[in-house]
Amino acid sequence: MTTKWIWLPLLAIAAFAKDSCLECHSVMADNLQKPAQLFPKDVHSQHGFRCNDCHGGDPNLDDPEASMNRAKGFLGKVPRAAIPKLCARCHSDPVLMHKYRPQQRVDQLALYQTSVHGKRLAAGDTAVATCIDCHGVHDIREVRDSLSPVYPLRLPATCARCHADPKHMAPYKIPTTQYADYQTSVHWEALSKGGDLSAPTCATCHGNHGAGPPQVSSVADICGTCHVSFEQLFNKSPHQPAFAASGVGGCVVCHGNHAIHRPSSAMLAGPSSVCSQCHTEDTPEARSGAEMAGLIRKLSDSIQASDGILERARRSGMEVSEAQLREVDAKENLIKSRLAVHAFNVQAVRKPVDAGLAITAETWRDGENALRERDRRRIGLGVSLVAIMLTMSGLWIAIRTIESLKKNSPDAKST
Ligand code: HEC
Ligand code: HEC
Ligand code: HEC
Ligand code: HEC
Ligand code: HEC
Ligand code: HEC
Ligand code: HEC
Ligand code: HEC
Ligand code: HEC
Repeated sequence: MTTKWIWLPLLAIAAFAKDSCLECHSVMADNLQKPAQLFPKDVHSQHGFRCNDCHGGDPNLDDPEASMNRAKGFLGKVPRAAIPKLCARCHSDPVLMHKYRPQQRVDQLALYQTSVHGKRLAAGDTAVATCIDCHGVHDIREVRDSLSPVYPLRLPATCARCHADPKHMAPYKIPTTQYADYQTSVHWEALSKGGDLSAPTCATCHGNHGAGPPQVSSVADICGTCHVSFEQLFNKSPHQPAFAASGVGGCVVCHGNHAIHRPSSAMLAGPSSVCSQCHTEDTPEARSGAEMAGLIRKLSDSIQASDGILERARRSGMEVSEAQLREVDAKENLIKSRLAVHAFNVQAVRKPVDAGLAITAETWRDGENALRERDRRRIGLGVSLVAIMLTMSGLWIAIRTIESLKKNSPDAKST
């Protein structure tokens, strides 16, 4: 421990001292030059670290033999299997790390060793991800940097370098479709198009370093950490114990894991029903699914009808803002009814649907009344327009008659 306290200030001094590694490697070619070219942008370089902090060797000596003397601790190119421990020399040392960043975590290696990647690496499989496959090397950036390969918008492509490569994954019996599937999901849409950084990426569900996320015992339980009320209802439903007993996951049975799409009532009944995986047609369970779909569609349709009539009234200048405001409550009941599906009980869905229908019945009537009032006003306007026209044409005829009378009078002829 104490030695660290001594070499930290030395490191600061060394930042201004000779750096033969960088100097010599800057004028090399290809793989020998690339590290030197990249390194100035690396977070470690920016904190005053140098090549020898990872590779060993002596940066004060110009002679390559002496500078890169393996007998004196030069490591050379770090073998893949040794990388996690190399990084952890600093990253698992709280005294050192907290000098640079007081809140920094120091559990990356400990977590990594519990992951499939870490366990397989320990068993000698170097095709798995090590620290540098996710963070890069020689151009490692702060994780909050939008150019970092672990930044939420870039992370899926980082995992995909291996997981979407059939050749790389050939020795393993797992699919290579996670990336393509994920890119069709509501989550990727919210993240990439909606800029919603709270939507999950690969590491949100699978953990950054660990085997799974820390909050849950299985990755299949991750959904409830964000979709809390859905999980609460599902857990009280008869499906929860039934699914748990048969070993199938919770939400993923109906929604999938990577290709999660925007749900609709088509999932409840008909050809794309998810229920039909287990309940064949004409069973009471399948019928209750169809009934729930019917209820939800009914409310959804009636909101649409009410929306339409109120919008027509508004566009023709009628005051319907109060009814439009009340419609918001009906829409909230529609959302509640879709949530209530997760109790898998028709009565639970019927409650918000009935409440919503009561509101749309009123707002639709308000819209109809507004349109009727508009028609009355239009008729009134029409009648008065006709009256005005009649008066005007009467006047015109009167003027013409007077004028022609004048023309035909004897006084007019004599001039
Ligand atoms: C005067 C030039 C020179 C200096 C100084 C120098 N290197 Fe090198 N380095 C080379 C050359 C040339 C090679 C490739 C030949 C070899 O492996 O010996 C190399 C190879 C390497 C490799 C790859 C080794 C492998 O196993 O593939 C690493 C890593 C490396 N140097 C790091 C360093 C570090 C760290 C320092 C400073 C302590 C340093 N070098 C100083 C010229 C230099
Ligand atoms: C944060 C730790 C770290 C620092 C600092 C670092 N390296 Fe490396 N370097 C590594 C690791 C890890 C590898 C192995 C990469 C791999 O397996 O692809 C490596 C690989 C190399 C290689 C071999 C490249 C190849 O493809 O054969 C060279 C050369 C090298 N480093 C030179 C340098 C030089 C020069 C510097 C300073 C400018 C430097 N490194 C700074 C961690 C570091
Ligand atoms: C499978 C990919 C992956 C591997 C392997 C990996 N990391 Fe990370 N690392 C991440 C992700 C993702 C984050 C979090 C990014 C964020 O917060 O947005 C992260 C964050 C970090 C951070 C910032 C602090 C923290 O813990 O959130 C450090 C430091 C770090 N990693 C170091 C390491 C080290 C050291 C190793 C090797 C022992 C390693 N990582 C292995 C993906 C990985
Ligand atoms: C000589 C000590 C040392 C070594 C070795 C080292 N690091 Fe670091 N690393 C640091 C320090 C100090 C920081 C800056 C403090 C911070 O940002 O947490 C840092 C920062 C980082 C960050 C940014 C953390 C963040 O929160 O944004 C990542 C990622 C990282 N290192 C990854 C690695 C990887 C991967 C390796 C191995 C290839 C490695 N480090 C090796 C000391 C080291
Ligand atoms: C360097 C290549 C590489 C990278 C990058 C990589 N992985 Fe892996 N990953 C593997 C290999 C190889 C396995 C082992 C497959 C197995 O055992 O079935 C694996 C296993 C896994 C597993 C366990 C699969 C199972 O068998 O249940 C998960 C989950 C996983 N990776 C997620 C990720 C995530 C998330 C990322 C990005 C943050 C990532 N990986 C990045 C190569 C990689
Ligand atoms: C919304 C959460 C979530 C996201 C986001 C996510 N996964 Fe998964 N992933 C899961 C679940 C759940 C499983 C199934 C786990 C099980 O059955 O034990 C899984 C399984 C896997 C597996 C094991 C093989 C398989 O396909 O069953 C790999 C590898 C994997 N995911 C990689 C990824 C990668 C790479 C990404 C990003 C492109 C990603 N995951 C994004 C939740 C997620
Ligand atoms: C880290 C938080 C988080 C996790 C974990 C998560 N989600 Fe999401 N989910 C979101 C966000 C944010 C949205 C986007 C909301 C939107 O666009 O309407 C979303 C959207 C959805 C939608 C579409 C909602 C709609 O109104 O159309 C479904 C379905 C969904 N997630 C299911 C799941 C499932 C299943 C899992 C687990 C495998 C899961 N989510 C894990 C945050 C999360
Ligand atoms: C047995 C099948 C099933 C299970 C299990 C299930 N859902 Fe659903 N989920 C549905 C159906 C069906 C819908 C569509 C309802 C509709 O729009 O009519 C839905 C809709 C959703 C929506 C969108 C609600 C909206 O406002 O449009 C989210 C979010 C969601 N589910 C999350 C979850 C989560 C989280 C879990 C696990 C705790 C879960 N679901 C478990 C069948 C299921
Ligand atoms: C993975 C298989 C599976 C899927 C998918 C599934 N169920 Fe079930 N469901 C079951 C099992 C098993 C039971 C029996 C639970 C019990 O009796 O304890 C059940 C019970 C029910 C019940 C009866 C509850 C009670 O109170 O007796 C209803 C209603 C139901 N499911 C509706 C649905 C609907 C609607 C869907 C589609 C949105 C669906 N299920 C999807 C397996 C499934």
